[in-house]
Amino acid sequence: LSDNLSTRRNSTGLDLNDPQETAALLAKLGALKNRQWAAGPIVSGAVTGRGRLAITNPADHTDIVGHVWDATSADLDRALDAAVSNYAAWDAQGAEARAAVLERAADALEAGRERFLSLLVREAGKTVDDALAECREAVDFCRYYAQQARCRFGAAHLLPGPTGEQNLYSLHGRGAFVCISPWNFPLAIFLGQVTAALAAGNAVLAKPAEQTPLIAAEAIELLHRAGVPYDVLHLLPGTGEMVGAALVADERIAGAALTGSTATAKLIAKTLAARRGAIIPLIAETGGQNAMFVDSTALPEQVVDDVVRSAFHSAGQRCSALRVLYLQDEVADGIIEMLTGAMDELSVGDPGLLSTDVGPVIDEPARKALLAHVEALQAEGRLLHVSRLGEACARGTFVAPHLFEIDSIRRLEQEHFGPLLHVVRFRLRDLEKHLAQLRATGFGLTLGVHTRIEAMSRRIFDASMAGNVYVNRNMIGAVVGVQPFGGHGLSGTGPKAGGPLYLPRFAAERVLSVNT
Ligand code: NAD
Ligand code: ALA
Repeated sequence: LSDNLSTRRNSTGLDLNDPQETAALLAKLGALKNRQWAAGPIVSGAVTGRGRLAITNPADHTDIVGHVWDATSADLDRALDAAVSNYAAWDAQGAEARAAVLERAADALEAGRERFLSLLVREAGKTVDDALAECREAVDFCRYYAQQARCRFGAAHLLPGPTGEQNLYSLHGRGAFVCISPWNFPLAIFLGQVTAALAAGNAVLAKPAEQTPLIAAEAIELLHRAGVPYDVLHLLPGTGEMVGAALVADERIAGAALTGSTATAKLIAKTLAARRGAIIPLIAETGGQNAMFVDSTALPEQVVDDVVRSAFHSAGQRCSALRVLYLQDEVADGIIEMLTGAMDELSVGDPGLLSTDVGPVIDEPARKALLAHVEALQAEGRLLHVSRLGEACARGTFVAPHLFEIDSIRRLEQEHFGPLLHVVRFRLRDLEKHLAQLRATGFGLTLGVHTRIEAMSRRIFDASMAGNVYVNRNMIGAVVGVQPFGGHGLSGTGPKAGGPLYLPRFAAERVLSVNT
């Protein structure tokens, strides 16, 4: 872990409290408000088809954001052949050259972020605040992996050995790497996977989520303009069942990275195991059943603010989002009362307005699945509170923040990916039982603790298997290089994105031993 990374700085983004900066941003977003985007497969730099399927704004279904053309099997075939034939030349350019390309991409993204911000708001339904944070994260991934490439993929490392023998350890690209990403971070996670694979010396076949191909196409064009060779980076939009499944089944690929649901990760693992060809790595970053424990020493105002941010902001559509809030019996009623008050203050509606706290969920299937869970909880739990939907919500796929009380996390059989929070009361003497039930879910992504007793936070940290544990703060928005992000068990294979061990997983390790 001992890289000399102290000179790296995270992107500063924009200050929404500065009226001039904010006015300039809103003017630029206003100019892009009605723009129609078009995307299609990008194979060796050529767009092989544009248009066809409409992509609509999840906050307003009358707003057509653009059109996409899905990749065909001929596109996949040509992209795979080009990737296999050209990755070695990209690898041979060396880490310095690859890092310089990624840093140019980061600079261009920072300088021209408005197009990406507009797409994040209109295609993915992100609030302006979330969109800004996501652009920053994307810039950070490009710069962090560039620097990591320099540290780890530069000159070969001379290892200690006997006199008369030279042992050189080096990291190389593996070949054609498939990167499959989700819609909930269509820029940051998409670019994070792609730039990591590129930094490590691979060629990339990028398969974006079907809901968000337009922003992916912009990101690929940005990387090509920054200097990634056309034959080394290809965009293959389409469904997971068709394009994603065909890519992971192909014997030409040398590795796969997925960020998505646990079910999809298991399907891909099965396909990889059954296909012809080499045994290759799967890097899977998946879902969570994330909890927060609040004891009687916690500061209630801070708890409420952190719970609202962790459970309801981003419409609860973060893998890191809080799903189960454990409240110590003695303080539960007071915190629930404050929380319901805070839920009444939430503004749910148009994500393009700076005053909006909670935007839409991504699409109708997502809305239906969340409402089905709400329905099921009427029998299984107790509804404590629901926020109000704004008037504009009728035009999109919105779900109001809900607060339920349940008796145990065992009532939840899966991740519910939206603004639904479940409260469980606990007595201190039952803490171990609740920690055991949390572990038994099999997920281990994020965990929050609010306490002023250090031994308490340590006890909960030790008993859990969460990859990211946050004490006395919210539990979302991990910062690249500062809070490397990712989980264990049903939450993923590791390594952590934005962490020092991420790039090597995309690489082939080699040792050259020479008898001198
Ligand atoms: P998803 O699994 O439905 O889809 C993710 C990607 O996989 C999409 O591009 C999809 O087209 C593709 N896909 C689907 N089936 C496939 C198949 N059979 N073969 C190949 N590819 C296939 O997930 P989603 O709904 O897009 O995203 C939400 C999920 O992602 C949540 O579970 C969330 O927790 C998780 N997530 C995890 C992290 C993390 O870092 N751990 C980050 C963001 C999201
Ligand atoms: N990395 C994202 C977060 O921490 C998912 O919220």
